[in-house]
Amino acid sequence: MTVTATEQLIAPHGGELVDRTGDRPGDAEQLEVVTLTSRELSDLDMLASGALSPLEGFMGREDYERVVEEMRLASGLPWALPVCLAVDKAPDGDRMALADDSGRLIAVLEVEETYEYDKEREAEQCFRTTDDAHPGVARLFAQKPLYLAGRVTVFERAEPPFPELALDPAETRAEFANRGWKRIVGFQTRNPIHRAHEYLTKVALETVDGLLVHPLVGDTKGDDVPVDVRVDCYRTLLDGYYPPDRVLLSSFPAAMRYAGPREAIWHAICRKNYGCSHFIVGRDHAGVGDYYGTYDAQLIFDEFEPHELDIEPMFFEHAVYCKRCEAMVSPKTCPHGGDDHVFLSGTKVREMLGRGELPPVEFSRPEVAEALIRAYAT
Ligand code: ADX
Repeated sequence: MTVTATEQLIAPHGGELVDRTGDRPGDAEQLEVVTLTSRELSDLDMLASGALSPLEGFMGREDYERVVEEMRLASGLPWALPVCLAVDKAPDGDRMALADDSGRLIAVLEVEETYEYDKEREAEQCFRTTDDAHPGVARLFAQKPLYLAGRVTVFERAEPPFPELALDPAETRAEFANRGWKRIVGFQTRNPIHRAHEYLTKVALETVDGLLVHPLVGDTKGDDVPVDVRVDCYRTLLDGYYPPDRVLLSSFPAAMRYAGPREAIWHAICRKNYGCSHFIVGRDHAGVGDYYGTYDAQLIFDEFEPHELDIEPMFFEHAVYCKRCEAMVSPKTCPHGGDDHVFLSGTKVREMLGRGELPPVEFSRPEVAEALIRAYAT
């Protein structure tokens, strides 16, 4: 039997890529309707495309409890964060229509169960805090009180923010196979790409066949850089500094949870579904404020057996430019520090860009900084 190029890629989580797209049922208009939040809409779209394989719908109690307590689905398969739909009351019927906030029907859910959940416990376990100043915790605490579980069939996919960048897992896999890549490193980001990010992605790319730059385009917190500005930066950087035949830029439709360590595992599993064999985890991955230790999102990978996740994390320590080494470095590769290292806080960079000032080239490529200044000036 011949092995096709797609079969040479890493297998999806749980073995099969799920496809929960389907036809609109004739009775969709007659069903009771649940309106989804933007986070739930992102999750629904990822259920449809198989990005959340092996999940076929919003989680039932057994999966939910085990995920919250042990980072595993009821089957024992690793899984780090709940994928749940919050509702006010149990439905009457055995099927529900799911709608976006404009009232457009997009999917049907086969009702399996409705159950109560403990927000404090979910927050403590998943976010490691119950502080409602944490954006993920705040969103959880604002949710409706019950979870509604069931398999979904999506008949109306949401229009993605950048249609030309929107590739489903089956499509990234086909593209990787087409390019002859077997070992692919995925890079999650919710920020403009600066020199540190460029360094991580290029060091990682040295050891594999291709790089998937996979910026998150779902909901982020209000003070993160808006997605259209970021996409402008990604395009600018890739056009100027990466060989096109080694890099694929595509959007990741998830919403940010800011769950730090657990989100790093979740991000890795999703990227495995997109066909990545490797995944970059740097400093404070998916973190916010100082809720997580700098390398907690790396340490959490030790809670799984070697190779259990299959996708290989590539860990990076805090990268900066060192003037004495005249190179990008990290504490692993450079003995210097202090003034030799070009370190700028996010606040400092925002202040500079706000004044129309370019940060040093050791921090950000000028073309990327200019794209940011243009956005801040308008
Ligand atoms: S994240 O929320 O998506 O993690 P961000 O876009 O800033 O935020 O980071 C993308 C990836 O790059 C993450 O894996 C993060 O840990 C890593 N990273 C960002 N900046 C650095 C840095 N200076 N040194 C090492 N890793 C970094």
